[in-house]
Amino acid sequence: MEKIVSLCKRRGFVYPGSDIYGGFGGFWDYGPFGVELKNNIKHEWWKKTVYQREDTVGVDAAIIMNPKVWEVSGHTKAFTDPLVECKICHERFRQDKPQEIQAHASNHELKREKAEWTEPKLFNLLTEVYIGATEPKEKAYLRGEITQGAFVNFRNVVDSTRIKIPFGIAQIGKAFRNEITPGNFTFRSREFEQMELEYFIKPNEKEGEAIFEYWKNQRMNWYSSLGIKKENLRFRPHKEDERAHYARKAEDIEYNSPFGWSEFEGIHHRGDFDLGNHKLTYRDEETGEEYTPWVIETSGGVDRAALFFLVDAYKEDEKRVFLSLHPRLAPVKVAVFPLVANNEELVKKAKEIYLSLKSEIAVTFDDRGNIGKRYYSQDEIGTPWCVTVDYQTLEENTVTVRDRDTTKQERLPVDKLLNHFQNKLAYN
Ligand code: GAP
Repeated sequence: MEKIVSLCKRRGFVYPGSDIYGGFGGFWDYGPFGVELKNNIKHEWWKKTVYQREDTVGVDAAIIMNPKVWEVSGHTKAFTDPLVECKICHERFRQDKPQEIQAHASNHELKREKAEWTEPKLFNLLTEVYIGATEPKEKAYLRGEITQGAFVNFRNVVDSTRIKIPFGIAQIGKAFRNEITPGNFTFRSREFEQMELEYFIKPNEKEGEAIFEYWKNQRMNWYSSLGIKKENLRFRPHKEDERAHYARKAEDIEYNSPFGWSEFEGIHHRGDFDLGNHKLTYRDEETGEEYTPWVIETSGGVDRAALFFLVDAYKEDEKRVFLSLHPRLAPVKVAVFPLVANNEELVKKAKEIYLSLKSEIAVTFDDRGNIGKRYYSQDEIGTPWCVTVDYQTLEENTVTVRDRDTTKQERLPVDKLLNHFQNKLAYN
């Protein structure tokens, strides 16, 4: 993890939030390559979840919603506990369970440690905000999950699109949780992005199970199709007592991270919990039947995906560090170099090639240092291909294209380059 954190800062993927003021616990800023990586992840997700399907549509709901939403959804209640935290091992306890607190303190005493506790606080994961120009301002919340924005728009979406069940509402956006223990770099942050699909079905136990399995597998395949090694992925069903208040059934997709198997994404069978609470129903126009649909949800974290894609792609050999990111996720697809920086003709030709690719794919130009250093620098940000313009280019209009993973080079005609890269990035 130290290597990843250091590479992320050094190469402009992720910086501590408010860095010049010493950071701010649980908040992170994405740099030039980090934002590209995240955008690529979101684009791939949207493409798979919305563009390649006929039964899903997207929404982008407001982050701050009427506070009633969070009362009705159960979040204001289900996430509030008076908590104290052990300063030695950071285990948290409910203040209203004094026997448990005492038992924990005794365990430390056996190890000759004196347990100390943080001040008790009414702990709710929802982040409060105050809205309005006059006092008293209205208390509202930054959304704790993006999900409710899809539910409260259920009727709007059905009425405005005439979409029929079964169908899904997809959404990507920021969520906020006042985590007591943010940590493991961006893994547990207080501000993060989610990419979620709420898939609405007619209530039916058997079909619910089948659709749950279907989405589980879809999501698992998405991670492996984008390069995560299969041996680093697994499903983990939730035990009854760890399920969120809305879930009838839940399973995580986990990643074998440097800090242990950790949640990548959650698949939840929410039944009619949410639409039922919001009193929203669906009317089948053909049969006239009216019912409260069930929801199967896939809920992934964009930041966790970015982190685990980076971790999984990180490679070192005796000569270099490189990120073997899937080309569609790589922040930069192609780097164009003149072989030497002080040859006007080579620089001019390299610039020309760079500009011809620039409007179509993410490409960069580099003429600093020697060619070895430029390769090294592109390898570290995971650029899949480097194009070098050399003296032969001036004679026969061909360039070398170096592959990041194998470091092998091939010679290609300049006028075939764009097509060559577009084919490599294409969906089969
Ligand atoms: N709508 C359901 C829901 O929010 P969740 O399991 O609480 O379910 C879904 O969250 C995903 O959001 C997680 O699998 C994770 O990828 C991401 N996530 C949750 N809390 C996070 C945090 N504090 N920091 C970063 N990502 C987080």
